[in-house]
Amino acid sequence: MDRLAGRVALVTGAGQGIGRGIALLFARAGARVCVAELKEHRAERTALEIRAAGGEALALVADVGRREDVDRVVAETVRRWGSVDVLVNNAHGFGARAPLEDIPDEQFDLSWTSGVKGTWWAMCAARPHMAARGWGRIINMVSLAAERGDAGLGEYNAAKAGIAALTRTGVREGDGGAAHRTARGSGDGHRAGRALPGERGRALLDRPGPLRGRRCAPRVTRDHVSGRNRKRACGVRWIVRRPCRGRRSRRGKR
Ligand SMILES: NC(=O)c1ccc[n+]([C@@H]2O[C@H](COP(=O)([O-])OP(=O)(O)OC[C@H]3O[C@@H](n4cnc5c(N)ncnc54)[C@H](O)[C@@H]3O)[C@@H](O)[C@H]2O)c1
Repeated sequence: MDRLAGRVALVTGAGQGIGRGIALLFARAGARVCVAELKEHRAERTALEIRAAGGEALALVADVGRREDVDRVVAETVRRWGSVDVLVNNAHGFGARAPLEDIPDEQFDLSWTSGVKGTWWAMCAARPHMAARGWGRIINMVSLAAERGDAGLGEYNAAKAGIAALTRTGVREGDGGAAHRTARGSGDGHRAGRALPGERGRALLDRPGPLRGRRCAPRVTRDHVSGRNRKRACGVRWIVRRPCRGRRSRRGKR
């Protein structure tokens, strides 16, 4: 399984949960992976797991809510390995559930800054490198919750809708070689576990395959999730929301 051989992937928030699963999966597919993460021990843990499995990993501590951190991890990855070919904007700062009237300003700002601005800054930092190489993939994590407008998640839903809009803009401005997609995480680990039991699940992990239709491999199964997140962040389903190339003809339309 070397579908990503020779590629460099940068995954934000890869210290646990879905980001960790993505990082491990990409490493298994042959990519060198930069684990960009707020918590040092989590970053190191994921990087160690990748190395223990024979992969190459770089652990960098970064807060995606700070532009200088985002610029630094992209620059450091490029300095170390020559490129960022795949960028996964996965990190997101969460707050407690609250009705709209009770969301503290700081909580809204955390979601917006870590989610929307962090994604935007990382896209800005990575896209020129992808354009220079004529190839790139940017995957931004969104959520079904935002599409539904789930109660108690106002600031999260707003941020995810913003990320989806940024991704669409990236698609239309993406004539430099970078393809852009959004992906929804699946928190329903039990369903993922049941849908991908044992060998069948493993076989799917080993066969990322081309992106096809709306639902595409790879999926991350329970195998890649431990501890607290075992119950809630066990699945990643790649869902292609937009065509992958920018279209010059549509530029300028709103
Ligand atoms: N888990 C779900 O059910 C679900 C569903 C839909 C979408 N998502 C999305 O998937 C992504 C990952 O979710 P998860 O459940 O794995 O989250 P998680 O909380 O388990 O893990 C997030 C990781 O990101 C790190 N992080 C948080 N803020 C950061 C920052 N400012 N800079 C760098 N790293 C930071 C955390 O330390 C943690 O390691 C998020 O974007 C989330 O919105 C999750």
